Amino acid sequence: MDRIIINGPCRLEGEVEIAGAKNAIVAILPAAMLVDGICRIENVPQISDVENICNILIAMGAKVNRADGKTLEVDCSGVRSSEVPYEYARKFRASYYFLGALLGRFGKATVALPGGCHLGARPIDQHIKAFEQLGASVEIAHGNVECYAEKLVADGIYLDMVSVGATINAMLAATKAEGLTVIENVAKEPHIVDVANFLNSMGANIRGAGTDVIKVQGVGRLQGGTYAVIPDQIEAGTYMAAAAATGGRVLVKNIIPKHMECITAKLEEMGVSIIEYDDSILVDATAPLKKANIKTMPYPGFPTDMQPQMCTVMLRAEGTSKINEGIWDSRFKYTEELIRMGAEIAVAGKIATVEGGRQLLGAPVRACDLRAGAAMVIAGLMAKGTTTIEEIDHIRRGYERIVEKFASLGADIRLVLD
Ligand code: EPZ
Repeated sequence: MDRIIINGPCRLEGEVEIAGAKNAIVAILPAAMLVDGICRIENVPQISDVENICNILIAMGAKVNRADGKTLEVDCSGVRSSEVPYEYARKFRASYYFLGALLGRFGKATVALPGGCHLGARPIDQHIKAFEQLGASVEIAHGNVECYAEKLVADGIYLDMVSVGATINAMLAATKAEGLTVIENVAKEPHIVDVANFLNSMGANIRGAGTDVIKVQGVGRLQGGTYAVIPDQIEAGTYMAAAAATGGRVLVKNIIPKHMECITAKLEEMGVSIIEYDDSILVDATAPLKKANIKTMPYPGFPTDMQPQMCTVMLRAEGTSKINEGIWDSRFKYTEELIRMGAEIAVAGKIATVEGGRQLLGAPVRACDLRAGAAMVIAGLMAKGTTTIEEIDHIRRGYERIVEKFASLGADIRLVLD
């Protein structure tokens, strides 16, 4: 089994370059289905989620060309199928974006239901509500979600809860609906704005992304063009947390500092010194850290996708910190692995109480999911001795060259392939 081996402890020092945003590209690639022409997409992260989506696109008849390491040219004009089979859909959760994109393009879509995941229940009722509101009929049968619309017609869509996926899917389908769709109570994450900007750069008419209300004027046709994906807020946050947890000093480059504010504010509260530049942030965590409490919330609140990494920072801080998980039912499984490394964490429902100031000891651990995997890497850097992380495919889904990046910051870390 492939694994990551870390000999700690270490203090990270140096510079790291952040890749394009995973949660933007996993929506932008399916969105290319709506475009007649070649989409040249720049700043694409080299992660396995991207490979999986490209495989789906190719299997459906699209042409995908990697122009260089970070640039993809995608031409979906040859696609005739409106179906994403289970063998492909099961490999990544965001396959649901093909529903909105294919429904918009063909008036029909069949996508295998994404499997369960380690974060608890992940319903898609709000995605379905949005499609139905636009005139589609939606059925769940034989493990597939099947959508069909004679014609998509604009309407008002009020989401019952703030959902990243439902917001993007509603935008995708509404882009090809006749008339003006008004989507209310939408998510405001940077990647929502990025997907809207991508679609607009190809000829869509979407306004309000980044606010609570998005207005989509349907258009007949989107043409090809060039678009650069925004930097990954969570990858950047992960390196900031890693610097803080190891008492290090790291310049995190190629980022949008505004997107980092929810994370920067919390680290500063804990005693980390942060200096913002135009497109980078210097994190200096050489001073002792103070305890803090976080509650995860939709953007601009503290992101749930930074919760496990932040827990490692709390392990270094003096005193007792608390985490209140406000998005997912079950996002504390990773704490069991940290406890095996000597951490003192008590979980009760959606609240974790983290005792700081304990020295972690290296141990064999597993990456229960993507962000949990990132937390294991940080914990391995903090711990005395050898940490071996298994099930690292989760980490590869969303972190580009994580071993090389941490090694360049001074970590004794290596990838072992079996
Ligand atoms: C996105 O998932 C991200 N994934 C997740 O990141 C992230 O944790 C999450 O947003 C929250 O920020 C991608 O962008 C690919 P939601 P998504 O719909 O869209 C409930 C990572 O580590 N809900 O915003 O699936 C849901 O159960 C991943 O990169 C419904 O009840 O999340 C949850 O409690 C993990 N019905 C809340 O809303 C629905 O129809 C937010 O989910 C949809 C969601």
